[in-house]
Amino acid sequence: MALERLDKILASQGIGSRREVAALIRRGKVTVDGQALLRQEQKVDPEAAEICVDGKPLFVKKYLYLMMNKPSGVLSAARDSRARTVVDLLPPELFRKGLFPAGRLDKDTTGLLIITDDGELAHRMLAPKSHIYKLYEAQLDNPVDEDDVEAFAKGVPLKDFVCLPARLEPCAGNTARVQVREGKFHQVKRMFAARGKTVLALTRLQMGGLKLDPTLKPGESRELTEEELALIFS
Ligand code: URA
Repeated sequence: MALERLDKILASQGIGSRREVAALIRRGKVTVDGQALLRQEQKVDPEAAEICVDGKPLFVKKYLYLMMNKPSGVLSAARDSRARTVVDLLPPELFRKGLFPAGRLDKDTTGLLIITDDGELAHRMLAPKSHIYKLYEAQLDNPVDEDDVEAFAKGVPLKDFVCLPARLEPCAGNTARVQVREGKFHQVKRMFAARGKTVLALTRLQMGGLKLDPTLKPGESRELTEEELALIFS
């Protein structure tokens, strides 16, 4: 890693907002290689230096992996000059430069979204051959029937391609759960449309073995544990 401002390093590691970490630095709570550094703008190599906060060593994480419960009405993008994005919703303690959503949900789709600055992980997650199942719950205008279940299992033909086989499970009322391996544009909505049904609301509940944390309110995010990260690929 290159040299970076001390306050930026600490904020990127979840120690606090830029203002909070600046206060810690001014109070002499932060040492670099055993010396208290009192200027927040001081540049440090986070990989080479031993940074301690309140005497406790900081193990600098190269990448950040977040789970968000995406709310409706925000774009799955890093930044947009006109619209609010999922990255705009991150609290300062989870924000760092370079974060982007690994995979997109439509503006009106809610639920599990991974946000990271690790391009390689995003690539592995999204590569068609990684075949990660995504579980969605759809609220429909009409209930699904056994013919729909069969059609999804065979692979729904769309105008431009035939979908890979998908698992469709009817639930109470006009709700259904569907597991798909692909992530083409509006795919789930288009699959239901091909069966004459309109998706009124769509939520992603799971990616691979990783489930949306039910304690996260819409718009909230938290860091993933290493075990949770591995679950995506299980
Ligand atoms: N399929 C869709 O149609 N929309 C999404 O947001 C995700 C999957």
